[in-house]
Amino acid sequence: MKGLILAGGLATRLRPLTWVTNKHLLPVYNKPMIYYPIESMVKAGIKEVLISSSSNHAGHFANLLKDGSDFGIRFYYAVQKNPKGGIANAILLAEEFAKGEKLMVILGDNIFNTDLKTSVNALEKKEKGAIIYGVKITSDFQQYGIIETDKFGKVISIEEKPQNPKSNIAQTGIYLYDKRVFDFIRKLKPSFRGELEVTDLNNMYLKEGTLECKVLNWWIDAGTSHDELLHANNLVADKVKNNDI
Ligand code: G1P
Repeated sequence: MKGLILAGGLATRLRPLTWVTNKHLLPVYNKPMIYYPIESMVKAGIKEVLISSSSNHAGHFANLLKDGSDFGIRFYYAVQKNPKGGIANAILLAEEFAKGEKLMVILGDNIFNTDLKTSVNALEKKEKGAIIYGVKITSDFQQYGIIETDKFGKVISIEEKPQNPKSNIAQTGIYLYDKRVFDFIRKLKPSFRGELEVTDLNNMYLKEGTLECKVLNWWIDAGTSHDELLHANNLVADKVKNNDI
């Protein structure tokens, strides 16, 4: 399985912090934000990771992360020309890089401490399928994809930013896909916000009965606002001191 970290976007909500740099390079306690998803991939046993960002920041990532040997893996870099195309559109950039292998995608501002190795091993054994991660939330339902499950945890529906959320489980930015993911993305149509939605992609797997969802204990979407960034800094500082990350 290969890895893709999405680190593009304009991060307008974090200005003025992001006028000259990319939000995934901002500090979260003692490391740049992007270190957290990278370390999650390393722990999961991923050896080759593609970092996708915008043209004006790609060099900053290369300066910081270099060839990946500091992490014991190999980095590759891609430039996303259309920052407003959506997550599914950005995943297409990894098609050549994936070379027919399965793909783990993590949004560059997602911080969590779950070991993804079990999911990697499970998906590697299957020919078809996708695994996504959810987390229980108490507010901001309209900001997320909302995952409705039955009492056994089986996904019933995923709705992007619903007005009337059917559950309290938000879709995080951690997705594992089989090699058909690129063909599925090519079938997607732009959504109400003009993006190729990762939710629509995941719904294709749901429809064919090959989607699995796991629920995380905690997860931070560090790049969504100044308050979330502050929260991420405080929470990660605490977790580092308690050896919980
Ligand atoms: C995206 C996804 C959404 C998911 C969220 C996680 O939203 O579309 O389903 O819950 O990431 O951060 P966006 O950040 O594009 O609004």
